[in-house]
Amino acid sequence: MLPFIDYRQASPDSSRTLMIDACDAEAIAREHGTPLYAYSRRAMVASFRRFEAAFAPVAPLVCYALKASGNLHLLRVLADLGAGMDVVSGGELERAWLSGSPMSKIVFAGVGKSEPEIAAALSGSHSLLGADAKGRRGEPVTGRGPVGLFNIESAGECERIDRIASSLGIDARGCIRVNPDVDAHTHRYTTTGRSENKFGIALSEVPALFARFRNGGRLRLIGLHVHLGSPIATPGPYAEAVAVIGDLIDRLASQGTTIEVLNIGGGYGVDYGQDAPAAIESFATALVPLLAPLKARGIRIVMEPGRSIICQAGVLLTRVQYVKQGRTKAFVIGDAGMHTLIRPALYEAYHFVWPATPRGGLTPGDLREDQPFDGLITCDVVGPVCESSDFLAQGRRLPPLEPGDLLAVFCAGAYGMSMSMNYNDHPRPAEVLVDGSACRLIRPRQRAIELIASELSVEER
Ligand code: LLP
Repeated sequence: MLPFIDYRQASPDSSRTLMIDACDAEAIAREHGTPLYAYSRRAMVASFRRFEAAFAPVAPLVCYALKASGNLHLLRVLADLGAGMDVVSGGELERAWLSGSPMSKIVFAGVGKSEPEIAAALSGSHSLLGADAKGRRGEPVTGRGPVGLFNIESAGECERIDRIASSLGIDARGCIRVNPDVDAHTHRYTTTGRSENKFGIALSEVPALFARFRNGGRLRLIGLHVHLGSPIATPGPYAEAVAVIGDLIDRLASQGTTIEVLNIGGGYGVDYGQDAPAAIESFATALVPLLAPLKARGIRIVMEPGRSIICQAGVLLTRVQYVKQGRTKAFVIGDAGMHTLIRPALYEAYHFVWPATPRGGLTPGDLREDQPFDGLITCDVVGPVCESSDFLAQGRRLPPLEPGDLLAVFCAGAYGMSMSMNYNDHPRPAEVLVDGSACRLIRPRQRAIELIASELSVEER
């Protein structure tokens, strides 16, 4: 069904049940409680390697976009494989550094970088963790050096980075994020490369910016960055953007500016079981021939995949609390909802949901909404939050369910935990990392006291 996550027999005499690697999802949920995010280490490693292999002809620096899922223990798996990191805040920057990824492989993006964030990205002396922080191997934070690249979103940001770099006496290197006005044909909330979006700098303004930051100062502009949106189902929009940027590179060359780096961002679609997007190899088949000539001119390629690395490696496990028959349909009320996985509420995103141990052996072979079984019930899978947008799935046909049953929400590894929240004062879920028959807690469940503690700390005297 999915690499390393499918329905198998946990033992020869048991019925088929959801397995994550060699671990039984039911057993994991019993031990760690629900809601729970479980990730397969092997699935992550396989998707990272598959991504690298697909684009090997242009040898990109693959910077994992850790906004997709940023648990330190997941990042360490990827850092050990040689991944760089794409970060968008001071918090993510510190996570990336703690993962063991060298600063030179970190790219710092985001439209609103603050002064303290920029200072921390330039010098460990300004680390947001404090001067005593130690890295993964005990190394001091001071002297960790600047990030490899800033992805810069405005002229004002160029000025700010240049000023802070000058005051610290450190050289900064940056790519200008170009807004190519290309339609990625994705949800309007996750489209970033159109002229009406807040991201990037209009093509027409880029040459003047390079001319301005070519000589003197501490900021050196060395490349171009583009990110069109996410998820993108086909290579077409990327091909369009690379063509536009190829022209820009030529125009810049004619004014004496040499581009050393091209970062083509992330957004590569993943099969959630609905509108099958192109496989990563198909993206590569279309893009490698366009990137290879640039590579041959000495331009280093950078890519920022998030979803395509972690999405299918993660499952959200939720326990059914009630099954309620409404007037027009049934509601399966679980302990996970929009506060645990907001994608269905925010983008009407599709996630396949199915019981971990379905009654009657109704185990699915794929992630399609319409499973070919008799005796299914039609229901909405909802959570405990006081909003009608609090659903994980609507109008789904599922095997009969009872309170206490465990449901699995598939392809929840990307933008699941990282977008979870405390609305209605629900603690954030726990996370576990499965590797073969070993299952390790990598983030304990938040406790209710943690939600209240900071307010108690300022209680009136
Ligand atoms: N690079 C930049 C500059 C980005 O803004 C993003 C994602 C990525 C890379 C990684 O994109 P990926 O390869 O993961 O698709 N919350 C939405 C997705 C928002 C993506 C934000 N930027 C969702 O759940 O679908």
